Amino acid sequence: MTTPPTPLLELRDVCKSFGATDVLTDISLRVHPGEVLCLLGDNGAGKSTLIKILSGVHQPTTGSIEANGGEVVFRSPRDASAHGIATVHQFGGTFPLMTIGRSFFVGAEPTKWRGPFRRFDRKFAGGIAVHEMQSLGITRVTDGDRLVGGLSGGERQALAIARAVYFGAKLLILDEPTAALGVKEAAHVLRIIMQARQKGIAVVLVTHHVTHAMTVGDHFAVLIRGALAADFRKGERSREEITDLMAGGEAMAELEAEIESYQLAEMPDSEKKEVQL
Ligand SMILES: Nc1ncnc2c1ncn2[C@@H]1O[C@H](COP(=O)(O)OP(=O)(O)O)[C@@H](O)[C@H]1O
Ligand SMILES: [Mg+2]
Repeated sequence: MTTPPTPLLELRDVCKSFGATDVLTDISLRVHPGEVLCLLGDNGAGKSTLIKILSGVHQPTTGSIEANGGEVVFRSPRDASAHGIATVHQFGGTFPLMTIGRSFFVGAEPTKWRGPFRRFDRKFAGGIAVHEMQSLGITRVTDGDRLVGGLSGGERQALAIARAVYFGAKLLILDEPTAALGVKEAAHVLRIIMQARQKGIAVVLVTHHVTHAMTVGDHFAVLIRGALAADFRKGERSREEITDLMAGGEAMAELEAEIESYQLAEMPDSEKKEVQL
């Protein structure tokens, strides 16, 4: 029998309450290097709270976190970051009025010259940022002095991911990275997630899109009202089962049929005929 590999990060019986409100109960989860863990669940299920615990924004009320087999306490995002955890918040976590180069190096600005002449090394920063983005297939971006605000949603996600990879992230946490993107851009972001995975980076992906989750996920965890309702690996559940779980255990096919019947009822008769044709 082979021994299972040591997880990069493990949550053990994590509970989180805000005052009298229990938001997470008894969450035990493992994140492995080179694997994509998709965190699924309806709005308000506790996904963001769980991510905030993984990234050091919140501390568990009870329960523990282990990194590489030893217990750790993340008192702040800085502690999590010191363990190689990089979180890309929704909308890319970038700054629209900064240049691409500056945004890439925010908090770790490269400088040139010394003493009173010390300056941000704009050329170096821009060059690295563009190079790293290009290596993720973002070939349209060639000028590191352009403002981040001029990038598309997918390019901003790529910038944030490239930055995390460049600074040596071992675990990349992405909160709804494809939520605001068109089909093509979403596909590109999913490809970048696969590239990170290939480099041995662990990815925790929060998403509402079952298709996106099924495309890149190795492992799936579904939260319903703060509890882990299901924890399974690729191929163990059908798309329909996953959709139903994400809707909090309701039969989505029935709900969808109901919505369709409302739409038909509200349509003028002339259009109805077209639909039926
Ligand atoms: N700081 C907080 N104080 C009180 N309640 C909170 C706080 N953060 C989140 N919650 C509550 O926890 C529940 C889960 O929220 P959240 O983790 O944002 O869910 P999700 O990301 O799955 O939509 C919600 O009911 C939310 O109102
Ligand atoms: Mg959320």
